[in-house]
Amino acid sequence: MEMSGKYLVLGAKGQLGTELTLRLGERALPVDLPDGDITDKYAVQDLLDALKPAAVLNAAAFTAVDAAERQPAVCRRVNAAGPLYLAQECEKRGLPLLHVSTDYVFCGTQKRAPLTEEDEPVPQGVYAVTKLEGERNIQKTHEKHIILRTCGLYGKLGANTQGNFVETMRRIGAERRNLRVVNDQFCTPTWVPNLAAAALWLLENEKWGLFHVVDSGETTWFDFAKEIFRLCALAVEMTPISTAEWNAPSPRPLYSVLDTSKYHVLGGPKMLRWQESLEKYLAQR
Ligand SMILES: NC(=O)c1ccc[n+]([C@@H]2O[C@H](COP(=O)([O-])OP(=O)(O)OC[C@H]3O[C@@H](n4cnc5c(N)ncnc54)[C@H](OP(=O)(O)O)[C@@H]3O)[C@@H](O)[C@H]2O)c1
Repeated sequence: MEMSGKYLVLGAKGQLGTELTLRLGERALPVDLPDGDITDKYAVQDLLDALKPAAVLNAAAFTAVDAAERQPAVCRRVNAAGPLYLAQECEKRGLPLLHVSTDYVFCGTQKRAPLTEEDEPVPQGVYAVTKLEGERNIQKTHEKHIILRTCGLYGKLGANTQGNFVETMRRIGAERRNLRVVNDQFCTPTWVPNLAAAALWLLENEKWGLFHVVDSGETTWFDFAKEIFRLCALAVEMTPISTAEWNAPSPRPLYSVLDTSKYHVLGGPKMLRWQESLEKYLAQR
């Protein structure tokens, strides 16, 4: 089933926004800063009045996790207030709202098994806390919503995208012989086209609610990087280090593998194993 009308894509120059825009083709109404600032509720109202979309897809976010610790107010405006304005305006107009959240809503020490939508979030750090606030703002305001929690996105770089983990490893791997990579955070890096396909399928089939959508399997950043180097034939000597040794400004969950059964049982496009996705990404880039 395909909804008629066009979809407003907010944050259209980011990684996910770029993929959604490409995938939707003529059905996309792509907008990014400065024209589509989700923290300006009057701008949001004007956009919706002018473009009259059939649905709103929010790929806009403050995604610089470590910088968020220094800019909590800006981060909260984008990740929590913006989604609230979108939910309010979508509610008024009866429009579906698709929004994206993160595995970082989990602290990573509560459970050592894939986390479900029923598990209680325990966010740590400004980015994670504000992303959970964004989820809750939508849930309490607008019923016709889809919120996808995902992880470690890599895909086509948008005009605004600085990079992603795979590109960073490729660049550093070509420059350096030795590399220290964190080996105690378990999660599932996800190829953006898989997420975008799942998102559009859920929207077009009117499956409202909160869903965990990540690629299949689990890995650490160390093993993910090792696989990138193997596939790119880069000879890099790697040293595994702990999260504590890396000492990033913002905390990261030690275990945030997400259980995708709630999504998969609906029969949407299957999420690939992370190894298969990585191979496809490298072959297509
Ligand atoms: N990347 C990941 O690994 C990852 C993992 C889990 C979940 N997620 C979530 O997935 C979603 C998409 O992530 P992504 O990697 O595609 O993000 P991204 O590449 O950083 O793109 C975000 C886009 O939003 C724009 N933006 C920032 N503030 C805005 C505002 N006030 N109004 C409108 N647009 C604004 C950014 O513009 P500027 O660049 O100019 O700021 C950028 O174009 C986000 O909700 C993110 O939290 C991402």
